[in-house]
Amino acid sequence: MESNELRQRLIELRQELRNHNYQYHVLDQPLISDFEYDRLLLELRQIEEQRPEWITPDSPTQRTGAPPTDKFARVQHPAAILSLGNAFGAADVYAWLERIAKVDERALEADFVVEPKLDGLSVVLHYRDGVFVQGATRGDGEIGEDITDNLRTIKALPLRIPVAGNQVLGDQVAGDQVLGTLIPNHLIPNTLVVRGEAFIRLSDFEELNRKQEAAGEKTYVNPRNTAAGALRQLDSSLTAKRPLTLLVYQIVDWNPPQSPRVRGEATTHPPARGGTEGGPPSSQAETIKYLRTLGFPTPESTYCATLNEAVAAHQGWVEKRDDLDYEIDGMVIKINDHQLFADLGVVGKDPRGAIAFKFPAQEVTTKLLDIGVNVGRTGVLTPYAMLDPVEVGGVVVRQATLHNFDYIFEKDIRVGDRVRVKRAGDVIPYVIGPLDTARTGDTPPYIPPETCPDCDQPVERIEGEVAWYCVNAACPAQLVRVIEHFVSRGAMDIVGLGIRIVEQLVEAGLVGDVADLFTLERSALLSLEGFAEKKADNLLEAIAASKEQPLSRLLTALGMRGVGEVVAADLASYYPNLDALAAVSVEELESIEGIGPNIAEAIVDWFQRPVNQGVLSKLRVAGVWPVETGISQRTESTQTLSGFTFVVTGTLSGFTRQEAKAFIQTHGGKVTGSVSKKTDYVVAGEKAGSKLSKAQELGVRVIGENELREMADS
Ligand code: IVH
Repeated sequence: MESNELRQRLIELRQELRNHNYQYHVLDQPLISDFEYDRLLLELRQIEEQRPEWITPDSPTQRTGAPPTDKFARVQHPAAILSLGNAFGAADVYAWLERIAKVDERALEADFVVEPKLDGLSVVLHYRDGVFVQGATRGDGEIGEDITDNLRTIKALPLRIPVAGNQVLGDQVAGDQVLGTLIPNHLIPNTLVVRGEAFIRLSDFEELNRKQEAAGEKTYVNPRNTAAGALRQLDSSLTAKRPLTLLVYQIVDWNPPQSPRVRGEATTHPPARGGTEGGPPSSQAETIKYLRTLGFPTPESTYCATLNEAVAAHQGWVEKRDDLDYEIDGMVIKINDHQLFADLGVVGKDPRGAIAFKFPAQEVTTKLLDIGVNVGRTGVLTPYAMLDPVEVGGVVVRQATLHNFDYIFEKDIRVGDRVRVKRAGDVIPYVIGPLDTARTGDTPPYIPPETCPDCDQPVERIEGEVAWYCVNAACPAQLVRVIEHFVSRGAMDIVGLGIRIVEQLVEAGLVGDVADLFTLERSALLSLEGFAEKKADNLLEAIAASKEQPLSRLLTALGMRGVGEVVAADLASYYPNLDALAAVSVEELESIEGIGPNIAEAIVDWFQRPVNQGVLSKLRVAGVWPVETGISQRTESTQTLSGFTFVVTGTLSGFTRQEAKAFIQTHGGKVTGSVSKKTDYVVAGEKAGSKLSKAQELGVRVIGENELREMADS
């Protein structure tokens, strides 16, 4: 390339990478895959290698990661949180070893450890005397963001180490971890800072999206961005609702135990490390063992005596990648010996002693033949891509999700484009975006349908929402979805009523709403194609049996916006039947933990709609009217708190907040979400914040949980 052209390309690459960096780290909305980002970065690096005089301090090669935002307090990392250089093939890996051997020839004799490169977020965890005290994002590698409260919600994160205390563990298995040698409590380092990766397992991600769908909420695009979004929430109760998990692989800082806590035993105990004399572990293999012994979840790590073995280990993982329950985008090859690793030093932000050996992308390009539109049970229109069939990782992909119409506009995806499609594990493939360069120029932008593809009625966009809706209550496609949901496994669980039969019933006009299922006649069923007597009887029996389902399932089945299985179970634990729930106010619903203003309003709104009232009266007549006897008995027996209004705040020791609320309600008391003059008591636990101050300001009586129990029992 001419010098001018090269310079031009350098400027372009810098700008492009800066944009992508911002999209990825600040907005959590990457426009390109990591693989493609790494390629661009490599291209820039190669130009800069040719012309080092062009390197500027603000070049994306001089920094990876994003600066911390103002959203969170800043945390200075005790040591630089480094990144990794990339290799895209075995040749790159051997070239890496040659390169670093020029810096220190001991590299030629080195042994290695190979670990999966987890596709999540790097987090830095601080432990003081074995207690988790602070956690941060990577930020720019020097300073990260304080996300301690969010990290605390991750169940895999040990809040205290060693997890198994002072028991002798041998090689017992805890979870999927094998616990190694014993570490006595008094040999726990005074300071321990570790680094790991937080992420969402693929199975948990799918489950999360199933719940979102059931609740009529927007589904998430991919596990990585969902994890990133969850960790950077300002309200940690939202983080807690995402199934984050963690694997820890590095010690960033280690200080010896300050003083032995067990009198007279200090000198007789084995050292607190993977088997050698005092101080932190001296190799990566020992580090992983040590972290595991302390009770940290750690990645699978493979010891390799030579680089050839490491390359072979990488190949082994390529083959099992599809069976994993989490996304990895390569393997990290690390020099095992920590001293050599440190002596090799750092180039930019990448340590010379490790390299990320990337996997072939699980991403392909193919032609977008058309954009289809599905109608959901709430009338939401969801676009999907119809693709020129293409193989991704051994599976032929014909369709992929396009998430919503905004996604299509943002990425400017057009019918006829070559598009990039990603598939990971069993997650539904999705379209990443168009290949700009492949567009011929005459493809028009996508225009969403103005009418419902099923009933042909005009579609509507609701202010402030991403979704487009078919608002025709009589739309047959919607009705099919509504019934499909009603009979599904987590709801009324009517076995044998599959989608085909639902379509037949709707088409034949035998059901106009879910309640009609309970008045279906045998003769009508027999008139349908494929229905013999046995099949009709079995179906009628399954429908009749579903009348016995508990209230929580009926609530799930009715499909109110925001009411999935979890919320339905909560509601059923407060209200004995649908009559009780129908009479409830938005304010009262909001006082239930986990129910925010939107869901509360959606529930009240649902009961107010005449169509739904009609369905309810038909259900009642048909005998589909479950009653939660547990609650009514409890409410009848103890009404000691009746007439009083409570607010629960802070961390209680004998109750979760939700349990405390349920306790008050079953004793006849009322619970609200905010403190006002009408509040009689504030039940305050530890770390009670603004609600406690408000109570003091208004002179509302503050009690503890013991007093609450005494009042209830009196
Ligand atoms: S080691 C000096 N090991 O990959 C240590 N990193 O592309 C450098 N990552 O920022 C990191 N799994 O967030 C290491 N087993 C693993 C990893 C891993 C995932 C991430 C890490 C890093 C990024 C670099």
